[in-house]
Amino acid sequence: MEIKFAPSILSADFTRLGDQVWTTRKNGAQYVHIDVMDGTFVPQLSFGDPVIRSLRPATDQVFDVHLMVEHPETYIHRMAECGADSITFHLEAAKDPAAIIRAIREEGKQVGISVKPKTDISAIRPYLSLIDLLLIMTVEPGFGGQAYIPSSTEKIAAARSMFKEAGLDTDIEVDGGINLTTVDTVLEAGANVIVAGSAVYGGDIAKNMAAFQKHFDKWKQENGQV
Ligand code: DX5
Ligand code: ZN
Repeated sequence: MEIKFAPSILSADFTRLGDQVWTTRKNGAQYVHIDVMDGTFVPQLSFGDPVIRSLRPATDQVFDVHLMVEHPETYIHRMAECGADSITFHLEAAKDPAAIIRAIREEGKQVGISVKPKTDISAIRPYLSLIDLLLIMTVEPGFGGQAYIPSSTEKIAAARSMFKEAGLDTDIEVDGGINLTTVDTVLEAGANVIVAGSAVYGGDIAKNMAAFQKHFDKWKQENGQV
């Protein structure tokens, strides 16, 4: 499957957000991962519509919005309106996941469901054929810079098998603690959309991007994907 790279702006320098995002674009990132946090579903508040709207003209990358909020149904229209291409909500926060999926589709956007580390992966079974993306949290959601939870690997592999058995090649995204040391593990397990926050935005962004790209090229070569 095609590898897509999604640097998370949660770790960016917000005084230079547009320039920093453009640096990831120039260096091969197809997606911008946008963490919307409400201070309730997760402890931290991040940013919302105005920031996303002002960033929209700065790049043509896919805006991959990750909603870490209670009542996700109330965010769908505003996220679509301010520039999201893909909207991912947490299964744990959704009272009626099927209705939220429909609402995202009605906006003409890609649909993602996310699960926290402690949520059993079988919980996504009813939605397999209804989504474009499964986002498996590989840390507890809420903060950048945490360490990858090793038991996530098994979960990614289980999800990939579930999609395969259903005849689907749906994107599996991983988020949290991904760096040059952990990325091979998630790729081998079956993830193909890779989020990285601190490993991209911490330090020299162009250099970090180049290191990831080199790593992906090598992985593709070794796995017959070139
Ligand atoms: C955490 C967010 C992540 C975060 C990842 O709850 O969903 O997207 O930015 O940060 P790193 O890559 O530093 O773990
Ligand atoms: Zn995220």
